[in-house]
Amino acid sequence: MRRHMQVRHCVIPAAGLGTRFLPATKALPKELLPVLDRPVLQWGVEEAVAAGVDTMVVVTSRGKELLAAHFDAAPELERTLEARGKLDSLEAVRRATRLASFAYVYQPEPLGLGDAVRCAAAVVGDRPFGCLLPDDLSWGSKPVLAQLVDAHRELATPILALTRVPRERISRFGCAMVAESRGRLHRVTAVVEKPAPEDAPSDLAIMGRYVLTPAVMEALVAIGPGAGGEIQLTDGIGAVIGSTAVWGLEFEGELLDVGTLEGWLQTLVRAAAEHPGYGPALRRAMAGVSG
Ligand code: G1P
Repeated sequence: MRRHMQVRHCVIPAAGLGTRFLPATKALPKELLPVLDRPVLQWGVEEAVAAGVDTMVVVTSRGKELLAAHFDAAPELERTLEARGKLDSLEAVRRATRLASFAYVYQPEPLGLGDAVRCAAAVVGDRPFGCLLPDDLSWGSKPVLAQLVDAHRELATPILALTRVPRERISRFGCAMVAESRGRLHRVTAVVEKPAPEDAPSDLAIMGRYVLTPAVMEALVAIGPGAGGEIQLTDGIGAVIGSTAVWGLEFEGELLDVGTLEGWLQTLVRAAAEHPGYGPALRRAMAGVSG
């Protein structure tokens, strides 16, 4: 019998140093870089909320206290906005606080993504949980995490977000070997972190959205370093294949990269271009750019 429990927590790894954005991220956490009117991390939180998650477990590190400040109340700012009648801004400020409950856990050392996720074990407890890497924004159609939660409701197994990439790009991602398929769902038979293109078992890349189970968390707590000398989330998932089924979903819509300066710029321009309020200003600005 399938035992399905509601996905209530979303683990959001946000402990990295943001070295791809220096010096912009010397003091500012990279997750607080804006895309339009809100920081990257808020886009991730809103995606998790849309998937029915009520508690965000943000994995953070020393010096990134501003992450929590963004989702906390700001009484002075709120009083001032209220007194000045800036009610739209007041609502926007309060909305971030009311989106969800937040728990913050520290990753003491940068030992890898799998280590970051296992730092959330005590908060998540014995339940399935979402995991969302804020380096990508879900764009178009139904938010990606909600698609995975739907699949989890049906299958009650770990669910990985998969997308096909050209062979030469697979070494930037975890890669899934799959067997039987049911439409966009594929049963995963093996996973390998960042394989060389010639060793990759498929062109299916594991993207930064997951629904994971207590068995994966237990495996993560037990494993040692893998690719790059880091504790790999992919290895924790691989460790449960065999004792439990794992499925991957070729999701609909897109994940847009905001984890590199180039990707962030492209995402910003795309988001602005598609926004009814900012689109015209962007096109006017672009018309003035030569070349
Ligand atoms: C991580 C995971 C990798 C996954 C990728 C998605 O890698 O380890 O399996 O494909 O996220 O973005 P990272 O981008 O942290 O190197």
